[in-house]
Amino acid sequence: MIFKTILEDIRAIYRNDPAARNIEFVLYPGFHAVLAHRFIHPLHNLGLPFIPRLLSQIVRFFTGVEIHPGATIGQGFFIDHGAGIVIGETAEIGDNCVMFHNVTLGGTGKHSGKRHPTIGNRVIIGTGAILLGPLTVGNNVNIGANTFLYMVDIPDNCTVVGTPGVITRLEGKSAHIKPQKTVVPAERILNESSVIPNQLSHRNQ
Ligand SMILES: CC(C)(COP(=O)(O)OP(=O)(O)OC[C@H]1O[C@@H](n2cnc3c(N)ncnc32)[C@H](O)[C@@H]1OP(=O)(O)O)[C@@H](O)C(=O)NCCC(=O)NCCS
Repeated sequence: MIFKTILEDIRAIYRNDPAARNIEFVLYPGFHAVLAHRFIHPLHNLGLPFIPRLLSQIVRFFTGVEIHPGATIGQGFFIDHGAGIVIGETAEIGDNCVMFHNVTLGGTGKHSGKRHPTIGNRVIIGTGAILLGPLTVGNNVNIGANTFLYMVDIPDNCTVVGTPGVITRLEGKSAHIKPQKTVVPAERILNESSVIPNQLSHRNQ
């Protein structure tokens, strides 16, 4: 199963990167980070303390890609270029997604439990995009470079661009739609006054 997933990750490189030739994929830092995560995530799921986090930090040192061991990532995941990426602990990414450099799937510091984004299948996340909170992105979505999404849900089959993000294409037609706010159960919203700065930075990872 894990080797099939890795094979799909390699296929995704050739599907999405016209510059990839022969065995050049072995040089891609994004591939190194995803490959390592394929082995680190099961260790995290086994409940092994410290080691998965240590390994992910070593990978971060060499690749500039920080994927928390708890993040769930579907097969055929391609990170192009790879520097400056942060994928939080409770982030979920579907199959056949593409992510460029400097993308953050982070928390807001105001939520407990599930606090990072959920991304559907076949989603492209352009360079510099920042997605914060337990928001949901549907299937077949293009997220433009430098788009900022804070606690908003994005439907299937659309393009979202800008800061804050606006849906500019929906079901193949031009649009200009403000996304709907993400609804989070009250018990998962932290009391902001009880949050001290060092707790906040820890929870955002
Ligand atoms: C968003 C993106 C994926 C294109 O997706 P797409 O579904 O093909 O979108 P389109 O180009 O058809 O654009 C859809 C609409 O959004 C608009 N749009 C696209 N990008 C936009 C932006 N950054 N700001 C404002 N509007 C934008 C288009 O003008 C178009 O509007 P129209 O229908 O009125 O003409 C692409 O623009 C992008 O940002 N890719 C990221 C690539 C990247 O990070 N590369 C790094 C390489 S190192």
